[in-house]
Amino acid sequence: NKKIIIDCDPGQDDAMAIILAASGVSDLKIEAITTVAGNVGVGKNTVNALRVCDLTGLHDIPVAMGADRPLVQEPSEASHVHGQSGLDGTDLPEEPVKQPIDQHAVDVLIEKLLASDGDITLVPIGPLTNIALAIRKEPRIVAKIKEIAMMGGGTFGNRTPSAEFNIYADAEAARIVFESGAPITMFGLDVTHQALATPDKLAELKAIENPVAKAVADMLTFYSGAYKGNFAGAAMHDPCPIGYLIAPDIFEWDKVRVDVETTGKFTYGMTVVDFKGSTGRESNVQFARRLDSGEFWQLFLDALRSYSKS
Ligand code: BDR
Ligand code: CA
Repeated sequence: NKKIIIDCDPGQDDAMAIILAASGVSDLKIEAITTVAGNVGVGKNTVNALRVCDLTGLHDIPVAMGADRPLVQEPSEASHVHGQSGLDGTDLPEEPVKQPIDQHAVDVLIEKLLASDGDITLVPIGPLTNIALAIRKEPRIVAKIKEIAMMGGGTFGNRTPSAEFNIYADAEAARIVFESGAPITMFGLDVTHQALATPDKLAELKAIENPVAKAVADMLTFYSGAYKGNFAGAAMHDPCPIGYLIAPDIFEWDKVRVDVETTGKFTYGMTVVDFKGSTGRESNVQFARRLDSGEFWQLFLDALRSYSKS
């Protein structure tokens, strides 16, 4: 079983990533869930992670709260996409039963990685603040990271014309991670926008009768609102790296050099992808370029069907 730590800011698509990882189609072993400020404040994101753990039966997985703001910039939230709670649309109980552990996310990352045999994959699906802090606090973890399978960046933006939200929200942290030397597989907007929750997929999903599928249908109905008018459906960003870890063949990628812009007036938070090798620098990223949308949805719908009816 592949060991993973999910670093997240739930967020409907973060919640769907956790649901996919915890499902019956997944061979992943979730070692911990860590939270970070992003879509909304870290307190709310943590409560949401706990609510999703209650829903999916992840009672024994430690959940640890992390950084409450980016390294340098002012916090920039995305409640216009995810709602005031960060997880609007669901009727899950507002107060989780499960509680977070009394340890900072950064220390959990360091402790788990140092104690490992180099077999833990990190799955950051929010801003990269916790990962950057962990690398700075204990640089020896870099050699222990099996892979960083992350959602963020791309050759176009959603927060600005050039920057994707997770990178924009803490570009200095992203830069530390991209320059760390850890092996990165990156799921940016180029590929996540090939996994759209189109009306036909939503209809298929709504026909699945169990509480987890119902929660996902509710979340997606709300979350789709932010995409109406501009796209054929909501982008399933954060489930992509989890989908890749379960079924890598769904994706195609290029090995490229990617740098994070931290000073540009119009391009702060942009991921600059050297597809043509013009920098002459060694690649630091497996850049996911394509996914098979049919297979991706098959996997996701099977994941939802794997949950029990009560
Ligand atoms: C990313 O930003 C967040 O709003 C989503 O949860 C996802 O991680 C997409 O740009
Ligand atoms: Ca996220």
